[in-house]
Amino acid sequence: MAMACSCHGIPDGEIVDVIRQGACSVDEVTDVCRAGGSCGSCVGTIELLLTLERALDAEPAA
Ligand code: FES
Repeated sequence: MAMACSCHGIPDGEIVDVIRQGACSVDEVTDVCRAGGSCGSCVGTIELLLTLERALDAEPAA
């Protein structure tokens, strides 16, 4: 598991968990776990994780 937000020590898996619990924007992820709330260099990673999770959600069940 990679560190997504080094300012707050948040791994990418924790951000995925936050998204799966209902966060649907960078601001909402930041509100829940603080990732993205300081230097902002991880915002692109958070956006990517949001996009990936949306794509997985959109896949029809097998
Ligand atoms: S690395 Fe996430 S706010 Fe700085």
